[in-house]
Amino acid sequence: MTWNAGTARAHEALRDINLEVRPGEFVVLLGPSGCGKSTLLYLVAGLEAYNLGTLEAFGAAVSGPSPDRSLIFQQTSLLPWLSVWQNVTFGLALRGEPVEARRAAAKEALSRVGLSDAMDKRPDELSGGMRQRVAVARSLTMRPRVLLMDEPFAALDVQTRAKMQDFLLDVWRSSGASVLFVTHGIEEAVALADRVVVVTARPGRIKAIVPVDMPRPRDPFSREAERLRAELTGLLRDEVDRAFAEQEAFA
Ligand SMILES: Nc1ncnc2c1ncn2[C@@H]1O[C@H](COP(=O)(O)OP(=O)(O)O)[C@@H](O)[C@H]1O
Ligand SMILES: [Mg+2]
Repeated sequence: MTWNAGTARAHEALRDINLEVRPGEFVVLLGPSGCGKSTLLYLVAGLEAYNLGTLEAFGAAVSGPSPDRSLIFQQTSLLPWLSVWQNVTFGLALRGEPVEARRAAAKEALSRVGLSDAMDKRPDELSGGMRQRVAVARSLTMRPRVLLMDEPFAALDVQTRAKMQDFLLDVWRSSGASVLFVTHGIEEAVALADRVVVVTARPGRIKAIVPVDMPRPRDPFSREAERLRAELTGLLRDEVDRAFAEQEAFA
């Protein structure tokens, strides 16, 4: 994938990406900043057009966004003038669903993220962690088969992030959806993934795919968790150095 292909500003973001996410699988993309992780998610979400290769979701070529594939960003984009429940069912409103059905859907989705009491609040009355849960609830109302998450917890404090990870694992298990989760955090990858895809510095290629064979709930202090963090740290080190050198060269 090359941004601005065919122009003087052509900029190759991804190369030779060959990856298949299985139904119900939790895959984490781990790589240094600028390696193309977000680019890959936008392509899968159908928000950007790819200019090389093929991309399929459930057997059909990806040609644009679909409610099947729901993207959640680091900074949630809740509409401040709408209540929480109206935000949660914004997609359903665009589909023309009647208000009673929307309120019922919001109620169900908000109870799944532990925010039943927040139905009628405004986004600015919520903490950062609560806003991210509202964003997840909003995704769930569309019943996606794939959740695409771009560093969704990066802006949260450590304790809230750990809670959000547990909560996400619950939602994931009960939804049966696949998750493609982007992070640059090694601990987060070990806490969440069935498989960690380590991406090289730009142009992002797959450096290694590391299966995480640990039962859930996971003990972050177990020897296996420690071993995996060491392995991923080793894989990532050179890539972080290379990414850094490139960004210095631009400065
Ligand atoms: N809309 C865009 N237009 C041009 N270049 C972009 C665009 N978005 C990202 N890039 C470039 O593509 C590369 C990968 O970016 P990105 O996917 O955001 O990386 P990451 O999410 O891994 O930090 C970077 O060099 C970035 O500058
Ligand atoms: Mg990014």
